[in-house]
Amino acid sequence: MKPVLFLDSGIGGIPYCRYFHRRNPGQSIVYLADRLHFPYGSREKEELAAVLIKLVEQIIQTVNPCIIVVACNTATLAALAQLREHFPALPFVGTVPAVKPAALASKTGKIGVLGTELTINESYIRELAAQYASVEIVGVAAPELVEFVESRLDSAPPEETREIVRRYVNRFRTEGVDAVVLGCTHFLFLEEDFRREAAPGIAVFESVKGIAQRIESLLAESSVREENAPDAPNRLLLTGTAAPEPSWAVWAERLGLSLALLNAVCP
Ligand code: DGL
Repeated sequence: MKPVLFLDSGIGGIPYCRYFHRRNPGQSIVYLADRLHFPYGSREKEELAAVLIKLVEQIIQTVNPCIIVVACNTATLAALAQLREHFPALPFVGTVPAVKPAALASKTGKIGVLGTELTINESYIRELAAQYASVEIVGVAAPELVEFVESRLDSAPPEETREIVRRYVNRFRTEGVDAVVLGCTHFLFLEEDFRREAAPGIAVFESVKGIAQRIESLLAESSVREENAPDAPNRLLLTGTAAPEPSWAVWAERLGLSLALLNAVCP
């Protein structure tokens, strides 16, 4: 069975991978963290697209996945169209901020999108705003929140985490927003904190379940399934040559994946 590959700059895609893996324990999976190029959000769009095209070339040679899930809003907005163009035989699933359900649910006509600099500056958000002409989008870039999740999620005291989340929620509240979209996969780790701080009055939107369903429906198509291929091991792969930081071993254990460097995995 060829694996489904989840890709992010760091731990951000893990909630998608974990949710999918729990629902589909028999499907082999690989999680790839491109820690070498973290953070994606502060890069130029063209530069990031070039990085991702190279990375996907390497992934195809080493992992040979049946689907690539770009479990990163920034990478999706910067490069998904180009990736599909470069690798037409490989199905890609992207993640984009869940603006549509938030816009439909909003009563104040103002929704908030929290993402990386690249995501918030990307024209996709403006195009969506134009599409839902009656809805105003308040975009807030939060690179320090990405950094916080990537490096301090497990070690930060809960009060500190709550305080950081509260600051963002209050900013949206002051703007009159009643729906907030977590437009960066890293922020899903803080979803409960966001929901707690946002209630009552502000609803929180994410896209984990929708992405899992999309992968499942692609797998159900016979052209994607490879019944006769040998089983691939479930792995957590990292880019770069430096030895993994101890936190990666913890994630590998939590997810039941074996940890390795992408460079060290033979085709
Ligand atoms: N997790 C990524 C996203 O969903 C971005 C993190 C980064 O800046 O690398 O946008």
